Amino acid sequence: MEIWFNPARELDALLRKAAAQTPLFGDAPFAPEIRPADPRFGDFQANGVLAHAKALKANPRALATALVETLKNSGALDSALDDTLVTTGIAGPGFINFALTPKFLDAWLERYADADAFRAGASALYAGKRVVIDYPSANTAKQMHVGHLRPIVIGEAIARLLQFCGADLVRDNHIGDWGTNFGTLIYAIKRAGADATNLGLEDLEGLYKEGSALTKADPAALDAARAELVKLQAGDPENTRLWETIVAVSNAAFQEMYDLLGVKPDVTLGESFYRDKVGRVYQELTDAGLAEESDGALVVWHDEHPRFARSAEPSQPFIIRKKDGASNYGSTDLATILYRSEHFHADECIYVTDGRQQDHFQQLFLTAEKWFAAMRAKGEGRKLPVLRHVWFGAILGDDGRAIKTKSGNPVRLKALLDEATARAAAIIAEKNPSLPEDERACIAQTVGIGAIRYADLSQNRTLDYTFSWQKLLTFEGNTAPYLLYAVARIHSIFRKAGVTPEVSGLLPPAPLETETEIALARKLLTFPAALEQACAELRPHFLCTCLFELAGAYSTFNNADKVLVDDLAVRSRRLRLCARTATALTIGLRLLGIEPLLRM
Ligand code: ARG
Repeated sequence: MEIWFNPARELDALLRKAAAQTPLFGDAPFAPEIRPADPRFGDFQANGVLAHAKALKANPRALATALVETLKNSGALDSALDDTLVTTGIAGPGFINFALTPKFLDAWLERYADADAFRAGASALYAGKRVVIDYPSANTAKQMHVGHLRPIVIGEAIARLLQFCGADLVRDNHIGDWGTNFGTLIYAIKRAGADATNLGLEDLEGLYKEGSALTKADPAALDAARAELVKLQAGDPENTRLWETIVAVSNAAFQEMYDLLGVKPDVTLGESFYRDKVGRVYQELTDAGLAEESDGALVVWHDEHPRFARSAEPSQPFIIRKKDGASNYGSTDLATILYRSEHFHADECIYVTDGRQQDHFQQLFLTAEKWFAAMRAKGEGRKLPVLRHVWFGAILGDDGRAIKTKSGNPVRLKALLDEATARAAAIIAEKNPSLPEDERACIAQTVGIGAIRYADLSQNRTLDYTFSWQKLLTFEGNTAPYLLYAVARIHSIFRKAGVTPEVSGLLPPAPLETETEIALARKLLTFPAALEQACAELRPHFLCTCLFELAGAYSTFNNADKVLVDDLAVRSRRLRLCARTATALTIGLRLLGIEPLLRM
């Protein structure tokens, strides 16, 4: 019997094959739409017959019946079905239910025992693929505030997910370290007569605010700031030194946040890295007839697109070189795609930014597609990576607006994380006063920062979410504290039993028996599908939902079935379920950037 890692994925493949062999299904490809089933009927339900029948104007029940018949008759499929799955028949207008046998559940629990087995099972998705993931990619010369949380937290979770699923990953921190604002900042530093080597990030931020107010109010100041920028872009030594100092101060401050949040970029190739690589972009796009001058700027139109066409109102060309001849976000991003393709041989590039940049990335991707196609047409072997924009919504305060401090300033990231740790410390001190002080501090940091991360990741990322200390720190509900506590509770059972989860039992486990054991095993088997769905759609909340449900099934099991019973075969099988639950929760939490605790 073949022990499928992700039965949902295998079933999908089986059904596609069976449909191709079933004349009633016609020639159009069949999408099985495998979903978790109502537990009373089985583990999975194939819903796709309905849509297929509708398209064919056929009777869905007849189609479903014919498909099940093919599955049963085909030799190869038969053995899989006999050993591993039972079709429990056709429900309603044409849903097909599948139930895994207890024998399969047992074999699965035996086979997928640790993180390595899970990794091997999941590696089908991204194995052999070179992926460049672009995050957190903050802009320099500004302190990190609450708005920087999502690219860090979501980017890191997606990076870990992809790596776990076999991707050969490059984490590229594409910092915003070039552009107009440096003219303003240098102008302000010089005007204040400040010594740049002694400035902190806060000072820089203040100076930038001053400079930007001045340039708005006074055309002469604006000209002066522009002149500083032109000098910087021309390689003027003094301005280059100032710029380097600004970038170094920013990077040191960012590093503190990365350390706290476990982010380790492989490379930091900011916008400035591409400043000498944009010439080729202008040249190739102009030669290919894709870019043209407009009001002195170099722009690309996409006439097939409703909003990016020449004729659109308001018109929104993709600007790749500004009037003053300077490169911009568009040109550096185009050069970046070329570099990632040529230097990193990327198969896929993933960009993690907020939703307000959707237009930029749509225009960027459209332009890159046409550009690479034009170069290929000229006989240049150029391969465009798959380009994906992973965008996210805003973090809202209780008033439903973007979260701010009482004085209306953005909440500093460091202050937010410190507050999370302090609040968690107070809760832990109350729950477990006997813990030694230093261990408590450590636990508080994991729980506090973990809670912030999890609150962000458990929401579908494209939605805005409302920040609430109370909600994210509660031990009841879909939160990090709840999941961390579930893992710690399992470890305490093993401590009591005097064995480690790796050993898990003393005897070969007896087959699963009680309803709650079977329910927990079935929940465990939904983990691979959740993992793969999170990875395929680059949406970590699928994983969170699964972990939450798994912890719930575990808690039901734990309340109904005593684990440390005298009958050693029963004790073994229950300990094995505990161990597998701990493994799945641990893998899941780590992928989300949260390190599980042995006790709390
Ligand atoms: N620096 C940009 C920002 O803070 C994000 C950069 C994203 N990456 C990119 N290649 N455009 O909004």
